[in-house]
Amino acid sequence: MNTKSRYEELKQQVHEHNYRYHVLDAPIISDLEYDRLTNELKAIEAEHPDWVTPDSPTQRAGARPADRFEKVRHPAPILSLANAFGAEDARAWFERVRKLDDRVERAKFVVEPKIDGLSVVLHYRNGVFVQGATRGDGEVGEDITQNLRTVRAIPLKIPVSQTSKVSVPNSIVVRGEAFIPNQEFEELNQKLAEAGEKTYLNPRNTAAGSLRQLDPALTASRPITLLVYQIVYADGPVPTSQWEILDYLKSLGFPVTDVARRFDEIDSAIAYTETWNEGRDNLPYEADGMVIKIDDLRLAADLGFVGKDPRGAIAFKFPAREVTTSLLGIDVEVGRTGVLTPKAVLEAVEIGGVIVRNATLHNFDFIAEKEIRIGDRVLVKRAGEVIPYIIGPVTDARTGREKVYTPPTHCPACGQPVEHFEGEVAWYCVNAACPAQLVRNVEHFVSRGAMDIEGLGTEIVGILVETGLVKDVADLFTLSVDDLLTINEELNKRRPQKEGVETKKKSAPKAPPKRPEKLFAAIQASKSQPLPRLLTALGIHGVGEVMSRDLSRTFADLDALSKAGAEDLQQIEGVGPNIAESIVDWFAQPVNQKVLKKLKAAGVWPKGEEITEKKEGAFTGLTFVVTGTLPTLSREDAKAFIEANGGKVTDSVSKKTSYLVLGENPGSKLDKAQSLGVKVIGEDELKKLAGV
Ligand code: IVH
Repeated sequence: MNTKSRYEELKQQVHEHNYRYHVLDAPIISDLEYDRLTNELKAIEAEHPDWVTPDSPTQRAGARPADRFEKVRHPAPILSLANAFGAEDARAWFERVRKLDDRVERAKFVVEPKIDGLSVVLHYRNGVFVQGATRGDGEVGEDITQNLRTVRAIPLKIPVSQTSKVSVPNSIVVRGEAFIPNQEFEELNQKLAEAGEKTYLNPRNTAAGSLRQLDPALTASRPITLLVYQIVYADGPVPTSQWEILDYLKSLGFPVTDVARRFDEIDSAIAYTETWNEGRDNLPYEADGMVIKIDDLRLAADLGFVGKDPRGAIAFKFPAREVTTSLLGIDVEVGRTGVLTPKAVLEAVEIGGVIVRNATLHNFDFIAEKEIRIGDRVLVKRAGEVIPYIIGPVTDARTGREKVYTPPTHCPACGQPVEHFEGEVAWYCVNAACPAQLVRNVEHFVSRGAMDIEGLGTEIVGILVETGLVKDVADLFTLSVDDLLTINEELNKRRPQKEGVETKKKSAPKAPPKRPEKLFAAIQASKSQPLPRLLTALGIHGVGEVMSRDLSRTFADLDALSKAGAEDLQQIEGVGPNIAESIVDWFAQPVNQKVLKKLKAAGVWPKGEEITEKKEGAFTGLTFVVTGTLPTLSREDAKAFIEANGGKVTDSVSKKTSYLVLGENPGSKLDKAQSLGVKVIGEDELKKLAGV
């Protein structure tokens, strides 16, 4: 094959793998293989710069920061929606439009989630993404093309799949909502907090802010995705029903919601909307309601507008999850890296069925900027699975008795003076022997993705550190059954304890402490965890699960890694100068060397092993969710089994889930799977499917 044909083939392959990964959430090759393809593509482009076109998958990042955004006139008005607050309002809307046009009587309705993000307008010419804009005032928006290019869920060419038979108008403009999913938002904030940087207030503003700033490289570093729901303009034939539009957009390779449903009558549409009001925490993003749309788009258009709101659709808003309550005090928590974070202690308040007593205050600058005082009434928001957060004080409610808050000058856990580094917002406790940091370190060490020692919860770890039984993570391995028995007794004395967030209906009883023998056995068993897990567990800055796996492929054990210089480390894909330095620094510290020595003496010294890459197998292309306790396999074992057979395991059930693997005491995942028609199987069937 000549270079040009190979180049075209590579572009197509990368487009399709990108689509499988970012839109379908069902990759069929490993990250490593994907990198290989893009590297080959980049190499050819370096040789033949004149071949590069804007739809090349390499053209997502790399644009220079702009001075300002140009204005873009939308090809048709980008409309808004009227709101309905509750079923009665929605029925009243239906009655109004029915009176205007009796075809509404027989209309079908499409219900979609109303994602709380940023509305974006994407232009494609001859199947190539050429421009992207914000909504602006609905007539004219801002040109944020370079930023949107970095969003991997946006196809740079349509249809994405070469084999697709769908015809695409020469010019087509679609609209969607760009957003950051809740989980990615929490992870982003966690990373920022650990690095001592400012955390973000909420997913919506972070997504909107990241797309409306001038440097595309910054947008590229944010986990922004989108869902598309409308064709704003097309110069060729496109479907005339909303339901078919969603299908059509999907077949072109756009990400489309899998929550949308079509109904024959308004009452069922409203009933469905209400189920999502109840279940909104199951959505992986913030939704402030559902949109009910008349399916027949010609009929909807005939109904006209009221101002900027089309009559053919209505936003059914969920009750806002914002309430005011009193700020009783501010606690300061010490993180694993020593970062101090202020946490609001609130007068208990119910927000959407959950009792909230604590909320994040982000950082000390936030308290100062918002002039938050102790005793203030504060506005608190809880959205989805995002940790409740303070929006700001209600200054009108002040009595004059509120107290200005002064951040601590000393660590609340160990009493050592706190420090601040140039260019960072965070304050740190830099005492390597700080007990609070140690507790967090141990918690991380035993966590699921690391050494996976079940039964060592926060309380037990706290007591182990307090009693001096554990002075570093290596001490876990020399604990005796008797030590653990003492801890158990101490734990029983201290209970019951107060909890931060509990459900209104039932305050879940805490799991009884594990029997000392069982805990002892769990700790001993973890000694044979493989090197990548131990490496992750050590919590070296910048060395997470993926990096640990990469390092374990190159280094035989921790001895070998500890001898590596920054130069050697940078030979490894993904290791830049910062991570290399952080690894070298970590091994150079006497406290860490002491821990390593103790680990080795305790027999916790795994050898690096060839990690098998994502395999092709019976489960290739299939996505699984595991819920409840399986008869023989632990959660991690089940995951390993599925992956070894080429399958993928995700945390939440969606329409893309191939199977829900069900164990005892499942949670809400079963309901979700049933409502989506996802196949449910047990451990036995899982094994049978794999041919075991
Ligand atoms: S339809 C005629 N559908 O909600 C079309 N809007 O208040 C009007 N939004 O500015 C919009 N998800 O940014 C529609 N599935 C969805 C939506 C959605 C989110 C946003 C959109 C709009 C606002 C309307």
